[in-house]
Amino acid sequence: MNFDLRNKVCVITGGARGIGLADAFTLGAEGCKVILIDIDDTAGQAAIQQLKAADIPAFFYLADATNENQVISIVKEIENSFHRCDVLVNNAGIGVKPAYLLRDMPLSAWDQMINAHLRSAFLWSRGMIPLMEKNHFGRIINMSSMNFTGGGRAGVSHYSSAKAAVAGLTKTLAKEVGGLGITVNAIAPGYVETELIAQFTPEMREVLQKQNPVGRTCLPEEVAALVTFLCSKQAAFINGELICMDGGRRDFYWGN
Ligand SMILES: NC(=O)c1ccc[n+]([C@@H]2O[C@H](COP(=O)([O-])OP(=O)(O)OC[C@H]3O[C@@H](n4cnc5c(N)ncnc54)[C@H](O)[C@@H]3O)[C@@H](O)[C@H]2O)c1
Repeated sequence: MNFDLRNKVCVITGGARGIGLADAFTLGAEGCKVILIDIDDTAGQAAIQQLKAADIPAFFYLADATNENQVISIVKEIENSFHRCDVLVNNAGIGVKPAYLLRDMPLSAWDQMINAHLRSAFLWSRGMIPLMEKNHFGRIINMSSMNFTGGGRAGVSHYSSAKAAVAGLTKTLAKEVGGLGITVNAIAPGYVETELIAQFTPEMREVLQKQNPVGRTCLPEEVAALVTFLCSKQAAFINGELICMDGGRRDFYWGN
């Protein structure tokens, strides 16, 4: 199938590793130029080397995706250098450790989590929509989570709330920009094999895998394949969706 993604300019926040980097490889294989935004300089530079070795045009901006001034200035730089933005993957995020019962949660942990996932998606979407509107084409993909769609386990109310808010943002923004040729969708993966879940003990991982109807965790490449399809011309009528990608596990519960 021809996804018609050649030469599209794709911005991926948190793109230096994990799902974001897998997105960059998959979109790059379709002929896209990929721009990674990440707070981790070393990982970002290493990711660019890997992508270039695979003949993918790749660029890196070191930035905190939650910092308004940094976002505004990088959006301007992208406009000046690339003259367009076709795809925005709001992927930057942080893990749930340390987990806190809500009654014990410091405000700083709450704010950090909400900002990493929601504020960043707001800032980058606001910045990129005018560039997408110019070409009457845009795809915004937001990362939600099974920790929202499955209800969220105890100790992660900051994470599940952030991911619920990302889903809410997706549905409303889709209605605002659908008429501009821009679609906005969210993906809610189950546990994906990245550094984000590397903190889990081997025992926990075994439980996670056993509890999943498919009998395993998700691969970053599987999420990236869905991201890429959502960016395609064929997906133009999919808008405002929250797509679960959790092997059917959703409501299982494995404790803390
Ligand atoms: N791995 C999973 O099991 C899983 C499941 C559901 C949803 N998700 C979501 O998918 C997204 C990617 O997860 P992942 O597993 O690839 O994580 P990861 O930890 O492997 O990668 C996340 C990247 O985001 C970057 N980042 C974090 N905060 C940032 C900030 N403020 N500014 C710029 N960059 C920042 C990190 O440096 C890192 O490179 C996250 O939003 C996560 O919540 C992951």
